[in-house]
Amino acid sequence: MSFPTPVRYPPPGLPESVSVYEVGARDGLQNESVILSVEVKAEFVRRLVGAGLRTIEATSFVSPKWVPQLADAEALLPLLPEGDALRFPVLVPNRAGLARARAAGASQVAVFAAATESFSRRNLNRSLDEALAMFAPVVSEAVGARMWVRGYVSMCFGDPWEGRVPVEQVVRVAGRLMEMGCAELSVGDTIGVATPGHVHDLLGALVASGIPLAQLAVHFHDTYGQALANTLAALEAGVTIVDASAGGLGGCPYAGSATGNLATEDLVWMLNGLGVDSGVDLGQLVQTSRWMAGHLGRPSPSRVVAALGPDPEQG
Ligand code: HMG
Ligand code: MG
Repeated sequence: MSFPTPVRYPPPGLPESVSVYEVGARDGLQNESVILSVEVKAEFVRRLVGAGLRTIEATSFVSPKWVPQLADAEALLPLLPEGDALRFPVLVPNRAGLARARAAGASQVAVFAAATESFSRRNLNRSLDEALAMFAPVVSEAVGARMWVRGYVSMCFGDPWEGRVPVEQVVRVAGRLMEMGCAELSVGDTIGVATPGHVHDLLGALVASGIPLAQLAVHFHDTYGQALANTLAALEAGVTIVDASAGGLGGCPYAGSATGNLATEDLVWMLNGLGVDSGVDLGQLVQTSRWMAGHLGRPSPSRVVAALGPDPEQG
């Protein structure tokens, strides 16, 4: 039996192709209570590559006290597959993180600012301006070393401590990151509170501020089930880089707080229906997420993984 796929039904006005920026190994695993072995993490990345993903955020060189799940970053990088078209960005918060990443052989890094003071203090132990001052030399050193640098802005649509986040606040932080020399800017809905009209407005404001559409990525968490609708709004606005997490990894299914990212399977299903090429093999990706769910001891929260049922080979 052939693998189920949606009917291809392309509407006008969408990009021909989308680059999926896979974050399951980083954003997903950083939130899991189960800490996986470095071999399982490497096998996860290899399987994602096998499914056609080309940009896979692999891990973080942050303080191991803050994120113990990713404390094995040095051990992971040498185990990753090689290939000209493959990119494995890693998160770095400061010069110590960049030094560790460079020593381990990373050539793509990401810094991660917040749009709000509250999250900046909680995530980085720094005010927003202090965090930006911490990133400036990191970006400059990385660019000087011919590394590719992504800048994240978190809490772009709402913040659990501050509520609604003004568009101008996001534009200001995004502008600072781009001025530093970031090649790409990922707009993060960290707690999943965005809705499509808000996405439309914020992307419009970022483009109006001078950030080229080709350098904008969207990063939706699916807490309120809005991630796919928000992604479609971003595609309609011309965005062609979409962050997603295999199996919808991340968050805790037993806690009422933020859940995982947009599941890569759910994204690819929609892209297939829209006729937007992603280069991802949905069948292999679903197999990978089922395999990972076995390691994590819980079913994948992805709707597509759930809809396609259990792996027939595993009963
Ligand atoms: P701090 O405690 O203020 O740091 O944390 P510090 O500079 O005072 O150093 C404290 C200790 O950490 C020292 O060690 C340092 O050496 C060590 P000690 O003397 O106590 O033994 N240290 C490090 N060790 C290894 N690697 C490093 C490093 N830096 C310091 N790079 C710090 C400040 C930034 C380090 C900390 O706050 C941190 O690591 N934060 C990272 C938090 C994080 O990873 N959050 C998740 C990623 S963000 C995200 O998920 C959102 C995103 O997905 C987008 C979205 O959804 O919107 C990207
Ligand atoms: Mg995230």
